[in-house]
Amino acid sequence: MRRIGFWAAVAATIIAGGTAGTALADGDPAAGQVVFKKCAVCHSIDAGVNKVGPSLHGIIGRKSATAPGYDYSAAMKGANKEWTAKELDTYLTDPRAVVPGTKMVFVGLKDQKDRDNVIAYLATLK
Ligand code: HEC
Repeated sequence: MRRIGFWAAVAATIIAGGTAGTALADGDPAAGQVVFKKCAVCHSIDAGVNKVGPSLHGIIGRKSATAPGYDYSAAMKGANKEWTAKELDTYLTDPRAVVPGTKMVFVGLKDQKDRDNVIAYLATLK
């Protein structure tokens, strides 16, 4: 019985690992820091520092349009999202399609790897 229990645990681990294809699990923060150069024109990673766009410090898990002192578009104020890795992945693919009317003038990251990596990098900004 103990043997079967062991192999069941191994199988469960393998299955969980195989299906855990979330953005965060796959991303490389170091590569994401390079991708972030595209965002850095408009976004600071420092808390409370807003540029053309709001600070992205602690963005993972943050509610949309809540960076203190930043003047969001009506579109972003109405988006009512929580920036989970999954939500960011969708948004960054095509920002203006996901939040129509957003003033984030950025075509998006079409490459899944770039999105995974930049999201992994954003997750380090706590
Ligand atoms: C040309 C400037 C520009 C670039 C480049 C840009 N953004 Fe933005 N971003 C903005 C602006 C402006 C807003 C505010 C949008 C609004 O209020 O409609 C924003 C909003 C956001 C938000 C929502 C923030 C919140 O507090 O709800 C996220 C997340 C975000 N950007 C991530 C990124 C990432 C990641 C990149 C790079 C892959 C990027 N942006 C590139 C200008 C930019």
